[in-house]
Amino acid sequence: MDIYRIRGNKRLSGEVEISGAKNAALPIIVACLLAKGETILKNVPDLMDIRTIFKVIEFLGAQTDYNPEKNILKVKVGRIKNAEVPYELVKTMRASVYVMGPLLAITGEADVSLPGGCSIGERPVDIHLSGFEAMGAKITLEHGYIKAAAKELKGTTFFMKKVSVGATANLMMAAVLAKGTTVLENCAMEPDVVDLGNFLTAMGAKISGLGTDRIEIEGVKKLKPVTYSIIPDRIEAGTYLLAGAITKGKVKVKNIVPGHISALLDSLSEMGYKLKTGKNWVSLEPSRKLSGTVIKTLPFPGFPTDLQAPMMSLLSVTSGISVIIETIFENRFTHVPELRRMGADIQIEGNTVIIRGKKSLSSAPVMMSDLRAGAALIIAALAAKGTTEIRRIYHSDRGYEKLSQKLLKLGADIKRVKGGKP
Ligand code: UD1
Repeated sequence: MDIYRIRGNKRLSGEVEISGAKNAALPIIVACLLAKGETILKNVPDLMDIRTIFKVIEFLGAQTDYNPEKNILKVKVGRIKNAEVPYELVKTMRASVYVMGPLLAITGEADVSLPGGCSIGERPVDIHLSGFEAMGAKITLEHGYIKAAAKELKGTTFFMKKVSVGATANLMMAAVLAKGTTVLENCAMEPDVVDLGNFLTAMGAKISGLGTDRIEIEGVKKLKPVTYSIIPDRIEAGTYLLAGAITKGKVKVKNIVPGHISALLDSLSEMGYKLKTGKNWVSLEPSRKLSGTVIKTLPFPGFPTDLQAPMMSLLSVTSGISVIIETIFENRFTHVPELRRMGADIQIEGNTVIIRGKKSLSSAPVMMSDLRAGAALIIAALAAKGTTEIRRIYHSDRGYEKLSQKLLKLGADIKRVKGGKP
């Protein structure tokens, strides 16, 4: 297993190009199944999760042709061969559950193994399933498989009891070909959901209310293949800004939509960082006086839970007391014991952490437990004194394209070492 070896305490400086958004690309790649013919997707990041979703749609009968240099994906869809997605494909990635919506819409059935993925709390799929039921599907659970069947999906009004990115996306994909009008209430407003909606609209779907908490979808008979470009990854952009911030460096993230990370930008400027924003870039510089802050994770446009862990690393070395309240996922603090090993002073009280900022962190052998916890450790290591070895880096391969190359370009001292100790 590869490891990262990072010699820290080095200022980062320079520009970094942000890749396409993983969380937008995943449902959009699956949504290609909804139209026969060849769809072309641009700005598709080369990531483990993206490679996994290729396998899933190939298993169902699609053909994929991916050019990782150009980040272009061609998906050819003919007849759907299978309506069942086995455990081997689903176990590594929860987003595989996205095939349920399109499969139900096209074939009238979907058998999907219960999902795995990041180990961040319970993460049920009950809202997805009750939404399908409300549209007329019969749902059963057998031998670890969710079985859904519907002769015909019918439009309905469905209130989601919790704001869920996955359920909003999955139900939208089912509703575009359903009979009649579906109204989804308490929808996620994340840019990834909006991007999926824009993609479906380009394919001929009739959707209104994207980016609001009420989405209305008028079912159509057929969708057509299109060429579409995925939005930039706001979580990757935020991660590099935090990497710049923790090393007191000057970093510019390019090819982004600044409005997608306004909650992070507000927090950073409140802490004292100097930020400049252009049409598709943000740059960050430190200032002499920086202070801690209070962060509460919330659905978009609030502070994203996916930046909670990397933000915690920064707050660990920011003077004063900071507080983070995690309201989206329980058990999303697995990075805390690892950060403590590097000298951070962090106390957990239920869904809240209290951080007493230290002058510096010091290197220690640490281990990634999930994708964003991994980002937190990389950020901490970039600022820590000494050389940090990070294990289980396959977690960050799931979501950060060319991570070490991008950090090297910013001046980090990072090596990916083959066959480090597991
Ligand atoms: C997506 C993102 C993930 C991000 C999360 C929240 C992808 C592939 N992943 O995950 O990176 O951290 O949004 O922004 O896009 N819930 C239920 N029942 C359900 C579905 C969700 O109770 O049926 C709960 C979850 O346990 C969680 C909350 O709703 O507490 C939000 O989860 P959700 O938005 O669905 O997250 P994902 O779509 O899995």
